[in-house]
Amino acid sequence: MVGTQWGDEGKGRFTDLLSKGSSMVVRYQGGHNAGHTIVVNGQSYALQLIPSGVVWDHVTCVIGNGVVIDPLVLLAELDGLVARGVDAFDRLVVSGNAHLILPYHQQLDALTERHLGKNKLGTTKRGIGPAYADKAQRVGIRVQDLLDSRIFKEKLSLVLKEKNAVLTRVYNRLPIDLDDLVERYLGEVAPRVGPLVGDSVNVVHDALAGGQEVLLEGAQATFLDLDHGTYPFVTSSNPVAGGACTGAGIGPRDISRVVGVAKAYVTRVGAGPFPTELTGTDEGELMVDRGHEFGTNTGRRRRPGWFDAVMLRHAVRLNSLSEVALTKLDVLDAFSSVKVCVAYEVRGRRVDHLPYHQSDLHDAVPVYEELPGWGTDLTDATEVHQLAGRARDYVDFLAEQVGVPIHLVGVGPGREQYVDLGVG
Ligand code: IMP
Repeated sequence: MVGTQWGDEGKGRFTDLLSKGSSMVVRYQGGHNAGHTIVVNGQSYALQLIPSGVVWDHVTCVIGNGVVIDPLVLLAELDGLVARGVDAFDRLVVSGNAHLILPYHQQLDALTERHLGKNKLGTTKRGIGPAYADKAQRVGIRVQDLLDSRIFKEKLSLVLKEKNAVLTRVYNRLPIDLDDLVERYLGEVAPRVGPLVGDSVNVVHDALAGGQEVLLEGAQATFLDLDHGTYPFVTSSNPVAGGACTGAGIGPRDISRVVGVAKAYVTRVGAGPFPTELTGTDEGELMVDRGHEFGTNTGRRRRPGWFDAVMLRHAVRLNSLSEVALTKLDVLDAFSSVKVCVAYEVRGRRVDHLPYHQSDLHDAVPVYEELPGWGTDLTDATEVHQLAGRARDYVDFLAEQVGVPIHLVGVGPGREQYVDLGVG
């Protein structure tokens, strides 16, 4: 399951749905910058780190090596689920190779953003970028290090020397105390996280070898991808389908189906280019209002815009999508007409593909096709015949523009609020 836009497409709700037929769900990148919302029987679950299959008790949840983990958030999330009757302690496997997000990562994330001033990225300030940077710089601390107190102390002491120099001399902040951190993480965190740590790669391969269905869950989305997104306004991992291979420890041939989740319109949080953005318009307000477009995680208002088929066609390529799952179609019920961006005009020239040069993307003016609205409430639609007329025309138009079938269509946040159009 991959996001095809800038995140917040509603991946969680379809991951939950498809988990019904899977025995394992693996998160392969990102961290608690994600916010996946699932609504089951009127109960809403907001997940950040734990795979969205967790509400099904037959599902084994795996947090893969590609994820960055704040263990305090992980434990709080697990405890919160237990309090609501979902006990995942015995069916969660956390990769020992996943990297830890520690307090200095979060502090540096916030400080760097402040330092950037008007050029800030608008990160979630969860320490994601600094944690992945440490991983690439080979000074990261991994989950498995929690299991060896000597190694943990040694690595932390080394890394804190540099972090504290930056905190105190560059940012004029207080240093972080090594002993405090060691005591907290080895004393309180390690005993609780330790039993969850496992050989996630072989757990996944054993499931595959046993013929089980394994669902790989991406966080964020294609255009927030470190390599393929609108750099630098991206996250620090690879949400694209290829990232599932590195982040879970499988090969491309292990993947048989790639579902791209797209919202029936587009939103973006944080800074960065957004060709179909609706700024200061009633239509944009209506989208935000009807779609409750405020972050599950940071509460920030999302920037709204029309569906961008140019981006989606690129997402099909980047992820080798086999199909699209469309979410939030019901949000558009109230619109008298709907627009779809089918191409861009860049300085007077029409282009049908996403320009590789970001200056061109900044200058891209959407070429729209306008379709009539459907004027009906779709939130009760569950059968194909209930998604008819102009609403179906809109879905079919998107599928034609994007070039792969639209299989599932979400018409509300509830687990059962969707229409299955079948693939092909
Ligand atoms: P970071 O991932 O916190 O470093 O933030 C980098 C960019 O990705 C910012 O624009 C964030 O708003 C965006 N971002 C990160 N996670 C999500 C998400 O789950 N949904 C939507 N945007 C996200």
